[in-house]
Amino acid sequence: MTAAHSVTVVGSDTRTVDCAPGQPLLDAFLRHGVYLPNSCNQGTCGTCKVRLCSGSVSAPEVSETVLGADDQANGYVLACQSTPTSDAQIEVPVDAGSGPRHPLRDLTGTVHEVSEIAHDTLAVTVGIDEPLEFSAGQYIEFVVPGSGTLRQYSMANPPSRPDRLEFHIRRVPDGLATDRWIFDSLAHGHPVEMRGPWGDFVHDTESDAPMILLAGGTGLAPLKSIALHALERDPDREIHLYHGVRHRSDLYDVEFWQSLADRHPGLRYTPCLSREEGFGRHGYVGDVLVDDFDSLRGFSAYLCGPPAMVDAGVKACKRRRMSGRNIHREKYTPAPAGAMVLT
Ligand code: FES
Repeated sequence: MTAAHSVTVVGSDTRTVDCAPGQPLLDAFLRHGVYLPNSCNQGTCGTCKVRLCSGSVSAPEVSETVLGADDQANGYVLACQSTPTSDAQIEVPVDAGSGPRHPLRDLTGTVHEVSEIAHDTLAVTVGIDEPLEFSAGQYIEFVVPGSGTLRQYSMANPPSRPDRLEFHIRRVPDGLATDRWIFDSLAHGHPVEMRGPWGDFVHDTESDAPMILLAGGTGLAPLKSIALHALERDPDREIHLYHGVRHRSDLYDVEFWQSLADRHPGLRYTPCLSREEGFGRHGYVGDVLVDDFDSLRGFSAYLCGPPAMVDAGVKACKRRRMSGRNIHREKYTPAPAGAMVLT
């Protein structure tokens, strides 16, 4: 059997971590308390880049749009894609530990409820055998039974409910996880395997700025977690949530948000339909936001949804003078096999 490799991590301090055969650096680091910026865990965002100072790693070829040619020539690799093939020394950014600091772990749980909440959209709640420590906005990976393939879904519940996780799942035609498992057969009482938490699209608890939340489709999930977490900390927090979908039949959690807004005067909920009129506002969330505000100076924003929606939403925030450093974003991108990946 191949032995684990010893990886020396050099950053603001120096530590040594054992990396099992085939285990990516990022996975080993997060399990051992070495926290690195990370987002997609798929090799598509470039967030997890580290420098290989000595030793060797095995990794798939990386596109220069993800990791520039200069970086690659200077020994940078993607921690989520690189597995050591010898003992190694890895340099991580000195501020690498400033993101969420929850250890990555394997999780087991039992499906509590599967309910259809909108057209082709399910809410799935899972009771976790051991409570999961996570930050509002993070995600976990489900192991698709029989394939070992992983699929990523953000928690919609706040971290204060660590033992029952809520997910919003949109069906992807012919999707390995959705069509052939979750929508086909997943039901109350089924065991599930997961691992997490991942990602640094998280609620910035240092800031008390009024918040804009822009969600596209099931991109609402992490924003629900962030909104609930923010309201637990400050019930009067000013939060403007825009949930964009195409049709009324795609919209969900309407009564939940209306009732929450009744109890929290600082919360404003605006559903937006892009393909029909007659409920909420008509148009894309970014356009509706621009109509509603003359200035967003001093606000912060969290955006999650399809890439085009997120890009347009970022432009809308900047057009209304929101500082770029206050804009947090996560894109849900359909993967080739029909899954969703986060970038
Ligand atoms: S490329 Fe590694 S986390 Fe995105």
